[in-house]
Amino acid sequence: MGNELLKIKKIHAKTEDKEILKGLDLTVKKGEIHVIMGPNGAGKSTLGNIIMGHPKYEVTSGTISFEGEDITDAKTDERARATRYLNVGFSGGEKKKNEIIQMMMLNPKLAILDETDSGLDVDAVRIVSNGVKEFKNEDNSVIIITHNSKILEFLKPDFVHILMSGKIIKTGDASLVNEIIEHGFGDYKEERD
Ligand SMILES: Nc1ncnc2c1ncn2[C@@H]1O[C@H](COP(=O)(O)OP(=O)(O)OP(=O)(O)O)[C@@H](O)[C@H]1O
Ligand SMILES: [Mg+2]
Repeated sequence: MGNELLKIKKIHAKTEDKEILKGLDLTVKKGEIHVIMGPNGAGKSTLGNIIMGHPKYEVTSGTISFEGEDITDAKTDERARATRYLNVGFSGGEKKKNEIIQMMMLNPKLAILDETDSGLDVDAVRIVSNGVKEFKNEDNSVIIITHNSKILEFLKPDFVHILMSGKIIKTGDASLVNEIIEHGFGDYKEERD
């Protein structure tokens, strides 16, 4: 309980009248690296956005707590002191290096890396992975949203989650990634609801 950084309980969220997150639960403790994988359009980036309080997304029920404090209705700038939404989807090593330097300087308690395209080359993946390794300590946490299993060759996540149809339908350790690579997401469909 004491080392819980982020606790999301049964969150429902929508944008433009479309419900995207449908009862999602997620707990991240200090010192942990979490990886979130899932099909296109499942709601992964939406999750990142609602943690940051993006004004385009409305949380209709459920709660988000940060260090035990309810931030469900907190404004984006109120959260920005603690968290920082980092998008590592850009191509080009220079940009990525800058983002990683920015992450080090801001030293957020929670860094969310949403890799929006799959075009990270090996060098870029290494830059990002090394940056995360250097940033990471026992008091902060990282959430990595990715389709790219390459990053997992460099970083050892504590938990891997499958987000599908607006909720986390399966949680495992790093070996879950291999299962996903082998079978895709199709196998998990029956486990929904
Ligand atoms: N600002 C928005 N306006 C309208 N629809 C949106 C908006 N943001 C997300 N959506 C819709 O919500 C669903 C989830 O989108 P989201 O971007 O969270 O998926 P994702 O899991 O990040 O997908 P990807 O793997 O392709 O990045 C999609 O159907 C998307 O079209
Ligand atoms: Mg996305």
